[in-house]
Amino acid sequence: MHEKTFEIKYTNYQFLAEMPEADRQLIQKAREALLRGYAPYSGFRVGAAVLLQNGSIITGNNQENAAYPSGLCAERTALFYASSQYPNIPIIAIAVSTFGNGLSDEAKPCGACRQVMSEYEDLSGKPLRIILDGTDQITIFDTIDCLLPFRFRQRDMEGENG
Ligand code: THU
Repeated sequence: MHEKTFEIKYTNYQFLAEMPEADRQLIQKAREALLRGYAPYSGFRVGAAVLLQNGSIITGNNQENAAYPSGLCAERTALFYASSQYPNIPIIAIAVSTFGNGLSDEAKPCGACRQVMSEYEDLSGKPLRIILDGTDQITIFDTIDCLLPFRFRQRDMEGENG
């Protein structure tokens, strides 16, 4: 029997001014995208901004639907658009904003969005920086491993472990 632990590292910021400039820019784009979100049913708009290795920033927001499950979260809207338009350019960071939504803490991505982030982190071969922007604090994770430990990966189907 072996008892093991998994350590999750994350960084909290209270002020944008404390953050690296590249993160601030990405957050700004996610905040702008949030304002264009289509969320008539929940009233909860979310914005996302994806940074590609070539410096391009792709944005998206949540898109709801009268048939509720047909809607999509901001993260997947932005990630799928980025991958569909720039299939060979690694995705290296994503900022998700719920700034000004009435919650003080940042919203945490749902499980399906984490799984999608996992796929693109593996595809790019680089850790995905995940920036969660709330009204009163910003939390950063350096890799999807910290948000989705023991994730299902393509390599699990190929019999490789690890
Ligand atoms: N939502 C996102 O877009 N991203 C998240 O990380 C959390 C939830 C959306 C889905 C839905 O449109 C609304 O927020 C309420 O759940």
